[in-house]
Amino acid sequence: MYKLQAPPLLFESSRPGRATSYLPASDVPARPLEDLIPAQHLGGEAPPLPELSELDVVRHYTNLSTLNMAIDSNFYPLGSCTMKYNPRRNERLAAFPGLGAQHPYQDESTLQGLLAILYDLQQILAEIGGLDAVSLQPAAGAQGELTALLVAAAFFRDRSEARTKVLIPDSAHGTNPASAQLAGFETVTIKSDARGLVDLNDFKAKLDDQAAVFMITNPNTVGIFDPQVSEIAEMLHARGALLYLDGANMNAILGAVRPGDMGADLMHYNPHKTFSGPHGGGGPGAGPIAVRKDLAPYLPTPLVAKSEDGTYRLDFDRPKTIGRVRSFFGNTGVLFRAYCYIRSQGPEGLKRISEHAVLNANYLMALVRDTLPVPFGETCMHEFVASARGLARERGVRAMDIGKRLIDHNIHAPTVYFPLIVPEALMIEPTETESRETLEKFAEVLISIAKDDPQTLHDSPVSTPISRPDEVKAAKVPILRWTPSEVSSPEK
Ligand SMILES: Cc1ncc(COP(=O)(O)O)c(C=O)c1O
Repeated sequence: MYKLQAPPLLFESSRPGRATSYLPASDVPARPLEDLIPAQHLGGEAPPLPELSELDVVRHYTNLSTLNMAIDSNFYPLGSCTMKYNPRRNERLAAFPGLGAQHPYQDESTLQGLLAILYDLQQILAEIGGLDAVSLQPAAGAQGELTALLVAAAFFRDRSEARTKVLIPDSAHGTNPASAQLAGFETVTIKSDARGLVDLNDFKAKLDDQAAVFMITNPNTVGIFDPQVSEIAEMLHARGALLYLDGANMNAILGAVRPGDMGADLMHYNPHKTFSGPHGGGGPGAGPIAVRKDLAPYLPTPLVAKSEDGTYRLDFDRPKTIGRVRSFFGNTGVLFRAYCYIRSQGPEGLKRISEHAVLNANYLMALVRDTLPVPFGETCMHEFVASARGLARERGVRAMDIGKRLIDHNIHAPTVYFPLIVPEALMIEPTETESRETLEKFAEVLISIAKDDPQTLHDSPVSTPISRPDEVKAAKVPILRWTPSEVSSPEK
């Protein structure tokens, strides 16, 4: 198998005196450095920057970019992360100077177009969620969770209710308990039942007057829609508690069912999983939240409001607000892409997206489940979670080995070992944008990997410059700065 090579570091390719200069020497007399830079910053050695030709630099970065696995070049069935293709049109529109060249410190009167779009987006997200008010501020799904829980806390504080607990299913994404803790709540875990749904007996046993919020992900992280959600909402409301819907999986239900109609009081959206926000590098992101009417006064400031004369403004006059959670009006570039995506699809288009996402996931599940059993669900929503437990027991081949081997077939690995309720989990989400041929090819590869020699799998990937980095060490002992001692000298 062809092994990709990582290009040497720029420092390693550097040669004294090598440079590119297309410009003639300047005939403007140079000002002394002392005039330009304060004296205390002058002096000492010049940093040893690499010396390279332009071609060296272009090749270096082009070659580096080809080492990436990306949705633009590879199938990327990363469950829970919804790596759907983002139409280029949105990128082009987001780069229009009318948006891209604006600055949040401009006077509101000169930002009317942008504010109109953000206002419209607030209305649209409220409608899709079946809720009443929206804040576009949070910078990611996780921050949306935190913001919504702070809103819930402010709501209960205002009513002098001392509710201290947030109930969370054991299948939840890790950000749910983390957000609850950060918002100052105690977390209570609710078990899943044999179907992978909320165990209602456990839920009822743990629902008491201290419960503030139950966080449900629906469809949940094993890719199943929990039909008990409205019953759960009723039980919560009868106790004065709130239902939070983690909207990370909205891509499965757009236009089919709305969180507010299921009984949710608060929710977040992940535009990068649902509305073509950019992925990668941890952001830039957005995590708008939607809430029902009586929670709206606590939303972060500012909201975008429409005045009676038809102009738009930033509304800071919100006495019960929890305050800001992000600078300015949120991540407008990402929000604008979401707006373009939603408007270009329209209600029917959004519905079709979810239908195709669900169809693709079910087709793929049917192709692979004889090889990799799927413990929960006869059918699935937008994703399914297969288990490599049998392979691990019989042949010592683990979910991680399968994920790593897929890289040798130019396919990104699915999410592995999440959710925790499935042993040796492989969480597979094809998304609506993949063709039947791609799904069939992937199933073929997966089935062939399951028959591969275990040692080959343990040694994979063999096609990448680095096979299996020590991920724990990389996370715990990150080396974030290059120092000369860490590379061989160019002469070697
Ligand atoms: C179910 C679920 N909830 C919440 C999140 C957090 O969203 P974000 O990554 O935007 O912070 C994710 C992200 O993967 C998720 O899958």
